[in-house]
Amino acid sequence: MATVAELLQPVEADLDALLADLRSLIGAGHPILQAAAEHLFAAGGKRLRPGLVLLISRAISPDGELSARHRRLAEITEMIHTASLVHDDVVDGAATRRGVATVHSRFNHRVAVLAGDFLFAQASWHLANLDNLEVVKLLSRVIMDLADGEVKQGLFRYDTGQSFESYLEKSYCKTASLMANSARAAGVLSALPPEQLDALYRFGRELGLAFQVVDDILDFTGSDQQLGKPAASDLASGYLTAPAFYALEERPQLAGLIEREFSQEGDLEQALALVRGCEAIPRSRALAEGFARQAYEAIEWLAPSDPRSALRAVPEYVLSRLY
Ligand code: IPE
Ligand code: IPE
Ligand code: MG
Ligand code: MG
Repeated sequence: MATVAELLQPVEADLDALLADLRSLIGAGHPILQAAAEHLFAAGGKRLRPGLVLLISRAISPDGELSARHRRLAEITEMIHTASLVHDDVVDGAATRRGVATVHSRFNHRVAVLAGDFLFAQASWHLANLDNLEVVKLLSRVIMDLADGEVKQGLFRYDTGQSFESYLEKSYCKTASLMANSARAAGVLSALPPEQLDALYRFGRELGLAFQVVDDILDFTGSDQQLGKPAASDLASGYLTAPAFYALEERPQLAGLIEREFSQEGDLEQALALVRGCEAIPRSRALAEGFARQAYEAIEWLAPSDPRSALRAVPEYVLSRLY
């Protein structure tokens, strides 16, 4: 199975240019905020979201070329993503991200909150400068969804009575909204017809949900080193994800452990073992596969090209992170 770098190969040069551009874009701010933002950009993530925007943009472009606005959209997408990670790590109290110390542990909480705000603000400014009201609406909605998702997640901590539906809504807000709306925005910049815009949105949404379910599985099955961030942390923080929901159905004793917030010696270890030892992980995988299939089918109509082939392989790549 392809690595993310192989998958993004048709836009590799675009992504290199994007990273250089991002650094100069954030270079205008206060030195300490700049250092904080640079810290994470330099660590380098998978660049999946800007990669998707660039692949879509090339796949729908009549001559296969990228416009400056499509490039800028990809940059804005990565800025919003990175800002959300900086804040998410503060909320979670996570020590590592992308294999390096998180911004709040490397600097401090005040710097991390401000650096996240600074990135969101920068993204908003560049967004407005695209001079396309529809795109502004799509991406500012994402920023609202991100905050909404973090709040939803916080409200439902240790709540075994919450619905599976609420978990999916939270996942849409925190993860799928950005992929869905940035995919649609790429189509808006190319003036695609409404049905195709809807299809791009659906592609991003289903892919985002698959991606989040996979991330939630990896939290139970991966190691800190493999993930570049703390593993086995969702349940410990009281965040119930797909594997926990399925395990609750199969192992009713899990509810008691969660409800007492793992307050007794060995509670968390026991809970993790319950989740890992039942059908919860395979069932979560099947859930992710369903979303991935929907994503794959949503972009069938794209005309044949290298970027299209890469896009069609992305859902499978997302699932392959589990192996
Ligand atoms: C992390 O996203 C946040 C989630 C949606 C789980 P990525 O795993 O894409 O993070 P980077 O950008 O590669 O670091
Ligand atoms: C991913 O949520 C979405 C955002 C960070 C906005 P997670 O909380 O699962 O992300 P990780 O696991 O910390 O990367
Ligand atoms: Mg998190
Ligand atoms: Mg996670």
